[in-house]
Amino acid sequence: MIIEPIIKGCIARNCHPYGIRAAVQQQINYIKRVPPVKGPKKVLVIGASSGYGLASRIALAFGGGADTIGVSFEKGPNEKGPGTAGWYNNIAFREAAESAGLTARNFIGDAFSDEMRRQVTDYILNEFGGEVDLVVYSLASGVRTAPDGVTYRSTLGVRNTPFSGEAFDLEHQTLTRQTLEPVSDQQLQDTVKVMGGEDWQLWIDWLNQAGVLAKNVKTVAYSYIGPESTWPLYRDGALGAAKTHLHRTADILNNQLSATGGQAHVVVCKAVVTKASAFIPVFPLYIALLYRVMKEKHLHETCIEQMYRLMAEMLYPIRGETPVDDQRLIRIDERELRADVQAEVEALRKQVTPENFMTVSDFSGYLQEFHALNGFGLPGVDYRADIDPATLAAMKP
Ligand code: NAI
Repeated sequence: MIIEPIIKGCIARNCHPYGIRAAVQQQINYIKRVPPVKGPKKVLVIGASSGYGLASRIALAFGGGADTIGVSFEKGPNEKGPGTAGWYNNIAFREAAESAGLTARNFIGDAFSDEMRRQVTDYILNEFGGEVDLVVYSLASGVRTAPDGVTYRSTLGVRNTPFSGEAFDLEHQTLTRQTLEPVSDQQLQDTVKVMGGEDWQLWIDWLNQAGVLAKNVKTVAYSYIGPESTWPLYRDGALGAAKTHLHRTADILNNQLSATGGQAHVVVCKAVVTKASAFIPVFPLYIALLYRVMKEKHLHETCIEQMYRLMAEMLYPIRGETPVDDQRLIRIDERELRADVQAEVEALRKQVTPENFMTVSDFSGYLQEFHALNGFGLPGVDYRADIDPATLAAMKP
């Protein structure tokens, strides 16, 4: 079969397995070009198959020689299609890590379940040396079934008054208008249940009780704050409420872990193109404007540059302590938030129309990264080559 990109709305409906291998290799190549990370050797990444979680794993494995465990929710090939991009990211990562002599174990399933916690803990105890020294929590999900069996769904909504803005229709490559509706109290609480810190806390408590956290263990979860222009749709909306909960959880976990020299941090990252961010209404246009400005100023970063900077300079600095702001947050979004960057983004935003959005914003850069997430548009990949479904079925994470 020949695989060509299919996009519906803002969701990619398929992926190219060999293109994905090339995309993962690009990130590995970047890490091999920069100075090494003097970081942890045994790492658990929850949400490891794409975006910031995958980039964290690559930075630590190929930058610091870490053995890694990755947990993710992905699907392999079936009669409907080749499977999800994250499925092949996991395969490409494991193959490359094993070739480099590293342990890379993938667990595919529901990270919100105690069953997954049990499987991962058993593996750490029996096959991974008994301990981890870093736990990265990088889940992005719209739904969570808690251990008591209750299922919560998140809502990408605002508070109080509706918020409208221009938005990309990636499928038709047009600019449309989207409105985010106010969420009810129940929707807000449910979004906090899905994307807040409760599940992160459950993981750390579970691992702690099982005795698999190393003495000086660190744990991080990722957050977004963004510039004031995005606050109505993100920081002050339902997702922002969940992130506030995540930030509070970091402090609780930090208090717990500090007794044995451990640390828990929230890391505030910049806006990048990922499967999760593409799904947030209105947000992708902001990302494409930001990309244009940051590229022009030679400040552009994707997941891998951000995660390298986090690991090498912030979480495991060669000298000194981890730098934090007055809320104890690790900030790697400082370039995005620079006043000159935001002033130019705002000036461009005012010019955007349905006719000119492709040139005023970095729409082509956005689309290129979106395609690359799914293995399309990578140099050196023969997209006309016939792919044998049996070969794909034989590839295991
Ligand atoms: P992503 O969609 O690329 O990755 C999400 C990961 O979560 C995938 O590995 C997926 O398999 C996993 N996952 C989702 N549900 C799961 C489940 N039930 N069980 C196991 N694994 C599951 O997302 P992205 O963008 O990398 O987001 C990761 C974190 O980074 C999130 O907390 C997000 O809020 C944060 N962040 C993202 C920014 C962005 O611009 N993309 C900016 C700042 C923070």
